[in-house]
Order: sequence, then C-alpha cells, then structure tokens
Amino acid sequence: MSTISLVRDTMSESSADTRPRCLIVDDEAPLRAVLRRILEQQGFHCRDAASGVDAVVALEQEPASLVLSDYHMPEMDGVELLRTIRDRWPDTAVVMVTAVSDVELAVQCLANGAMDYVTKPFRVEEIRGRVGQALEKRELLLENKTYRENLEARVQAQARAYEELFLASLQSLADALEVKDPYTWGHSVRVGRYAMAIAIELGLDEQHLVQIELGSRLHDIGKIGVRETVLNKDGPLTDEEYHHVMEHPVIGWRILSPLLRDAPHALSVVRSHHERYDGRGAPDHLAGDNIPIEARVAAVADSFDAMTSGRPYRAGMAVDDAMAELERCAGSQFDPECVQAFKRALAARAFPLPDSFVRRPTSRSAVAA
Ligand SMILES: [Fe+2]
Repeated sequence: MSTISLVRDTMSESSADTRPRCLIVDDEAPLRAVLRRILEQQGFHCRDAASGVDAVVALEQEPASLVLSDYHMPEMDGVELLRTIRDRWPDTAVVMVTAVSDVELAVQCLANGAMDYVTKPFRVEEIRGRVGQALEKRELLLENKTYRENLEARVQAQARAYEELFLASLQSLADALEVKDPYTWGHSVRVGRYAMAIAIELGLDEQHLVQIELGSRLHDIGKIGVRETVLNKDGPLTDEEYHHVMEHPVIGWRILSPLLRDAPHALSVVRSHHERYDGRGAPDHLAGDNIPIEARVAAVADSFDAMTSGRPYRAGMAVDDAMAELERCAGSQFDPECVQAFKRALAARAFPLPDSFVRRPTSRSAVAA
C-alpha cells in the first residue's frame, strides 16, 4: 500500500481532486521545483510559496495536509511559520528542510510541533520516506483526535444520562412525599415555578436558577419524617405538633446533603425556606442577607402557594389577597426585594397561574370537594 493511500485528506474531500494537498515553502525556486517534482510523483497536489508570509496566504486560501518548509527565509523564518501553522492549522503535518545539519535547530523545530526534518542536500528517497512517515503520524494523530472527541461525547452523554437518573430518583422522593401528604400534590412544582420567576426577575445567575428549581421541588422532602397524623391533621396544630412539623427543613437537609454535594444552593432552599427576614424563623434564626438568597426567594414562592392553595378546612386565598399579604409581611417575614420581584413577575404573567389549584382527586378528596 502506498503512503498516499494511507492519507486521510479531510481538506480535499469536498473538491473533485482528492489528492492530498502539499505546500512547499522555500525561497530558492530551483529547490521548490525539485521538491514539487518528487512529491507530485508521489501523488500529491502541490503548490509552492517563496516565503513564510506567502505560505500563510496560501494556507488561508486552501489548507494542506503537508507543508514542507525551509528554515532560512526572509520576513518569517521556518520556526515562526511552523508556530503559525501549529496554531492555525493544527491538523497540518510540517516537515522542515534545512541547509544546516544542526541538531539544536532540529530539536527546536520538533519542539515546536514539526513532524520531522530533513537536511540539505537530500536524497529523493529520503524525502519520500520522511514525508511518508510524517503523513502516517498525522493520520494516527487525527484518528486519536477523533477517538478522543467521540470519547468525550460519550462521556458527556453518560453524564447527562446519570444526571437524569439522579434527578428521577430525587423526583421519586418528592413523589413519595406527595403520596404521604396528598394535599401537597403539585405544591413543589408550583413553588419551583414561582421561585424561578422571582430568581429571573432578580437577575440571578444560571447556577442559582437551576438549583433554585431543584431545591424548590424538594424543599419539603423532610416531611417524610413527620408523622402522618400531624401532616394530614384537619385543623390547627398544637405547639408540639407545630414544632414537629417544623423539623422538616433539617430532616430534608440531612436526607439530601450526601446527594446534593454539588448543589449547595438547592440544599440552602431545603434547609432555610422557613427562615424569616427578621430572624424569627427556623431552623437557624438567620436574618436579612444572612439568609441565602435562594431561600429568601423560595420562602416567598412557598408562602404564596400555601396561601392560594385550598386545604380541607379552608379555601385558597385569592391571588390579589395573597399578594397583598406578601407585601404586608415584606421586611418582617420576607425579603422586600423578593416580594417586589414576585409582584413584577405576577403582573407580567411570567408563569401560568394554577389551574392546578384544583386538587387532584384522592381518597380524601371528598373532603376537599
Ligand atoms: Fe416547608
């Protein structure tokens, strides 16, 4: 098999002439002619350039698989041309041709990415052999590059699949809670929707947005650890029952901490969504800006949905009344900026207002109905 047949000349695939492209760069015209003849006999489509600058122009017009370049040239010497080619046409193989049998110069060229070098005067067979080897090396490098790119794509696809599975398992946790507490059905989805609208109004970054949605979906997950008799009690809670329910942020945070190491903002939503702006919340009695912004956002979203959603023992509040209540509590229970951001999002209808306020039928829905 000839060397040429081994060459994958990706640059010439689109043209009718499928011969691999070679650019010969030398300031001596007779030498260019000799090299051209040798390489054309070897099956190359050759062009030549009398200087490094001309070579760059030629490559801009049409890239090449192989550049055979002299070292000593005016304006741009061979090493500078080599660096330019490495930088701009990294798939091009460069073989240096130099009049000096200088080991240091050869090392410098190889260190700068030359595939090989030949010294003048050269023999025809030497040129053919070195060019063939350079193209085989290039072929291997291109195969390796393609393999790496495919591998990276496969790894990314696997990471995405893993992330989807991970989110699906978190979703099943949220579902488990909704089975235990049917009246929270749809609550976490709506809280996520409202919280996202607030976060977007506040101009929070992408990382916050993604984690706020995740944290909102899971914010009440700790209620899995709350007694069902308390969770589903139709009526006001006793002090003991209230304190028991209010353990859910910490329970949820404990459950999710090992799973959400890479999502600290989502964890903050879970732990701190019952903190109050005035510091009288739970569990850490944080106040003002000491409450993570994602939790301040979620607190507004959570309360709005709690107010507007019906319970067996009370109807849901009208949207305008709930908004007025949020504003009344801005600065005490809620971050005023988050309340205003929600008001703007609400006015702009940044999210669908819930037809989901209609409860899903459950075994207890006769009460709700
Ligand atoms: Fe909660």
